[in-house]
Amino acid sequence: MQTFEIQPLRPLLRHWADQTLKEFWGSTCIMSRWRYHETKDLPAFIAIQEERPIGLATYCLEGDSCELVTLNSFVEGIGVGEALLLAVRDLASGAQCKRLWLTTSNDNLPALQFYQKRGMAIVAVHPGAIDEARKQNSKIPVLGYNEIPCRDELELEMRL
Ligand SMILES: CC(C)(COP(=O)(O)OP(=O)(O)OC[C@H]1O[C@@H](n2cnc3c(N)ncnc32)[C@H](O)[C@@H]1OP(=O)(O)O)[C@@H](O)C(=O)NCCC(=O)NCCS
Repeated sequence: MQTFEIQPLRPLLRHWADQTLKEFWGSTCIMSRWRYHETKDLPAFIAIQEERPIGLATYCLEGDSCELVTLNSFVEGIGVGEALLLAVRDLASGAQCKRLWLTTSNDNLPALQFYQKRGMAIVAVHPGAIDEARKQNSKIPVLGYNEIPCRDELELEMRL
């Protein structure tokens, strides 16, 4: 039984979302494909359990595409990540988008497993994209998950 619910981010929880993104990703400004997203300005969904936020997905609708900019679950393995992904997918479908897409880094094997098991396919590899981004933002770690060198950007998509 699902013990949480998914809701659009309310203004009251915007501060929590900003702080959370800052703590997890080092900034509210997230880069993908050479573009910076200020997540403070993006719409989002949150997962709520007993009035406590336990997950967050920010996204950006543009033309007939929707980019999942960030996805975080703070209670893993109970379906929060999947429910947030489905909420963004359903919203994108409803907005007549043809494509839901995202980028992640080559070291993030848990995320690559998670997304591919949920219908997303790797459609492009951008070798060295993270190394290049690090030249502008030294906070981007050299080693990522499991000490894997963090170098490339992988682009995944789901056709809608
Ligand atoms: C990737 C991430 C979003 C997944 O979130 P999550 O809440 O753990 O995702 P889910 O619970 O939906 O699914 C995770 C696993 O738990 C399993 N699961 C889901 N509900 C379950 C339940 N009720 N009981 C037991 N297991 C369950 C799923 O089957 C899944 O396993 P699988 O991938 O082998 O199929 C999360 O690990 C995360 O926040 N990572 C850090 C940030 C990140 O890397 N984000 C993505 C890159 S942008």
